[in-house]
Amino acid sequence: MNLVGSKKQGGEIYETARSLGEYLLFHYGSQEEQFPWPGGPKDALDFARRSVEELIDSSTSIGQVLDLGCAVGKSSFVLANISGQVLGIDYSESFIGAANSLLQSGSLSYQYHEEGSRWKDASVKISELPSNLSFEVGDACNLRKDLGQFDVVHAANLLCRLPDPLSLLDRLPDLVNPGGQLILTTPFTWLEEFTSPEKWLEEGDSASALKNILEEHFILEMEKNLPFLIREHRRKFQYSLALGMRWKRKCES
Ligand SMILES: C[S@@+](CC[C@H](N)C(=O)[O-])C[C@H]1O[C@@H](n2cnc3c(N)ncnc32)[C@H](O)[C@@H]1O
Repeated sequence: MNLVGSKKQGGEIYETARSLGEYLLFHYGSQEEQFPWPGGPKDALDFARRSVEELIDSSTSIGQVLDLGCAVGKSSFVLANISGQVLGIDYSESFIGAANSLLQSGSLSYQYHEEGSRWKDASVKISELPSNLSFEVGDACNLRKDLGQFDVVHAANLLCRLPDPLSLLDRLPDLVNPGGQLILTTPFTWLEEFTSPEKWLEEGDSASALKNILEEHFILEMEKNLPFLIREHRRKFQYSLALGMRWKRKCES
């Protein structure tokens, strides 16, 4: 599938070598690689794991899981440890290519930006490869019709990267089994290059607007702030605070 030619302006950023290095480091890098300084917001590291482990209810058995906007796949690997079957979907061919290489061979070498024209070599190794995980390229605003239903849908920091967030929110009730879990995190970083302003969820504030939409089919079970830190280069970092939420799909609607 060739999506690159049809990508909207913002989506192209996730096909660059710099983004690939940034996200492989964000998902799989050690603390020392990501933040090689004393002090600092170390609690904001390992977000791809925390967005699952701090929000999911694993007290009942979990069968099918969909990880939407999975990027290079770390959350999907975490989900595969606690579920029957996991499908990770992302729009970026480059990210899904990296996730698939890792899944097939258990290791991947990459480079991340150090400063100026300098890059650093790094590698990821997964010791136990799951057999219940697969990745595919797809568009969260136009998901294939035969995707089926899931016990858990996890979508971390995807919403404000979509050209049409409402199209995904409209599809979610069909994707989550009655009684199933919807795990959403978002820092609501609305940017015109990804989402045109008339599509931003803003009635009242973004969190209230999102809750108003979801409440028709879901019950909010928990919410908490989840900080995350993305390294741009060795002396520049993005610190953000995502709102993390776990919703339960209503059984009657
Ligand atoms: C901010 S990143 C978050 C990635 C990952 N969930 C995480 O928390 O690290 C947004 C991700 O959404 C993906 N994405 C953007 N638009 C998408 C779309 N229409 N459908 C599916 N994925 C999309 C990007 O390729 C990128 O991997």
